[in-house]
Amino acid sequence: MSADEATRDGAATARRKPPWTATVLTIFPEMFPGHLGASLAGKALERDLWALRVLDIRDFARDKHRSVDDAPFGGGAGMVMRPDVVDAALEAAKAQGPGPAIYLSPRGRLLTQALVRELAAGPGAILLCGRYEGVDERVLEAHGVAEVSLGDYVLSGGEPAALGLMDAVVRLLPGVVGNEASPAEESFERGLLEYPHYTRPAAWRGRKVPQVLTSGHHEKVRRWRQGQAERITEERRPDLWAHYLKDRDEGEGREP
Ligand SMILES: C[S@@+](CC[C@H](N)C(=O)[O-])C[C@H]1O[C@@H](n2cnc3c(N)ncnc32)[C@H](O)[C@@H]1O
Repeated sequence: MSADEATRDGAATARRKPPWTATVLTIFPEMFPGHLGASLAGKALERDLWALRVLDIRDFARDKHRSVDDAPFGGGAGMVMRPDVVDAALEAAKAQGPGPAIYLSPRGRLLTQALVRELAAGPGAILLCGRYEGVDERVLEAHGVAEVSLGDYVLSGGEPAALGLMDAVVRLLPGVVGNEASPAEESFERGLLEYPHYTRPAAWRGRKVPQVLTSGHHEKVRRWRQGQAERITEERRPDLWAHYLKDRDEGEGREP
C-alpha cells in the first residue's frame, strides 16, 4: 500500500469509527440536548462528531404511575430512586451505549480537566442523573457505577452536571473546536490557569493593552503569558500552584 493509500485508509477508518456517545438516564429527557444543541456542540452533534441518546428512567418503572422513587429505609426527609427501576434503565443503557457508567453525584470524584480528557479518549459514557435524595446504593454497587461530582455544592438534579460533563468532553473531540479556541492552551491543560486576554480597542476607558502584546515579538509574548498564568494560578489557586511546582521540579530533576 502506498503512503497516499495508507492515509486515505486511515481517514476512512477514522470516519467509520462510531462517534463518542453519551447515553443519558434521566427523568427529565426534555432537558437534553439543552444548551448542547446550540453553538459548537450543537453543530458537532448535527455533523455526527458525537452522539446523544437519552433514556427516560420512567419508561422502566413497574407501575401505572411510572414511579421511580420510594421512601428511604431508616426514615428521614425526601425520596430515593428505586434500585429495580434504575437497574432496568442501566441494563438498557449498557445494551445501547458504550463507555463507563457514571452517576453524577456530589459524593463523586471531582470532574477535572484530566478526567474530561480521559473520558474524551474513550468511546463514550453512560450518565445517570439522580433526583430526590439520590439513588439506592445497591444498584450503584451492582453495576460498578463510578461517581463524578461537578463541584462541592448540591444541585437539585444530575442533569446540569451531565450537561457540564458532556460540554467539556465534546469540545475536546477531534473536529469540534476549530481555530476558535485551542484546548491545549487553556486553563488546567498545563496545570495552570490561563493568562489574561485582550482585544481591540487597544485603549479602552483609559486602560491600555499590555505593551508586549502589540510588540509582535512572539517569544516575549509567550514568556509574558507564561508569567501571567503563573501569577494568576499562585494568587487564586494555591492547590493547583503547589501541584504545578511539584511537577515542574520533578520534571527538571528527570533525565532527558
Ligand atoms: C438534591 S441532590 C441529592 C443530594 C444528596 N442527598 C447529598 O446530600 O449528597 C439530587 C441529585 O442531584 C445530583 N447532584 C447534586 N449535586 C451534584 C454535584 N455537585 N455534582 C453532580 N451531581 C449532583 C445527583 O445526581 C443527586 O442524586
